Amino acid sequence: MLFLEGITAGYGSTTVLRDVDLVVPSGSVVALLGPNGAGKTTLLRVASGLLRPTEGRLLLDEQDVTGLKPNRLQALGMCHVPEGRGVFPTMTVRENLELQVLDGDRREAVDRAVSAFPRLGERLSQVSGTMSGGEQQMLALARTYVQRPSVVLLDEVSMGLAPKIVDEIFEFLARLSAEGASLLLVEQYITRALGIADYVYLMNKGQVVFKGEPSELSGDELFERYVGAH
Ligand SMILES: Nc1ncnc2c1ncn2[C@@H]1O[C@H](COP(=O)(O)OP(=O)(O)OP(=O)(O)O)[C@@H](O)[C@H]1O
Ligand SMILES: [Mg+2]
Repeated sequence: MLFLEGITAGYGSTTVLRDVDLVVPSGSVVALLGPNGAGKTTLLRVASGLLRPTEGRLLLDEQDVTGLKPNRLQALGMCHVPEGRGVFPTMTVRENLELQVLDGDRREAVDRAVSAFPRLGERLSQVSGTMSGGEQQMLALARTYVQRPSVVLLDEVSMGLAPKIVDEIFEFLARLSAEGASLLLVEQYITRALGIADYVYLMNKGQVVFKGEPSELSGDELFERYVGAH
């Protein structure tokens, strides 16, 4: 379980998040929605340890992990797929995947990634930066799969991709979830996100303005106002 409790955070003297509470129960999918600039990416950065909150606590499976660096959190099962992919463009697909294996069988890790996205199997020797945008996103997601994470933070991973690839990505997310990972999902494709979400949070101007189950949202005034009807 991931628990962000009373989080206030920002950049320099600018406060972006104000007293945000958010829970991702074990094995569940939480969709985090809101307009541009609401603070969604900032909240994921706090959850992954990239940004230290000025107030509040970060709990991972009851353990207080506030202030731990990203690599420590990663070792505890946290995995962050940032906006804009985060693969190493000059390395091959295989190298990108193998880099995720701290200790363990590299070959097995590559096989596991390819089982999630067979297309990567045909491209293991290709330099990542020369692949299509969709393929690079598959690689970014496959890297998380290699780590067998318990919590995955996903920042608009389907942005700008063709519908068919978005389908593949959502199938992958459903698989990750079915295998027991907890997902915190920031998405522009609201209908798809709500389709796999157990809980939904709406943010606006750095605060949570709604939390509940997706079924509670239809016709909700806040939803219409902040996110628009999709
Ligand atoms: N590195 C930074 N330095 C200063 N301000 C920042 C920085 N990153 C983000 N901000 C500001 O914090 C606010 C929240 O940004 P954030 O990226 O978290 O929003 P978001 O909800 O992810 O938006 P989007 O939907 O456009 O991705 C914005 O006003 C933004 O300008
Ligand atoms: Mg963002």
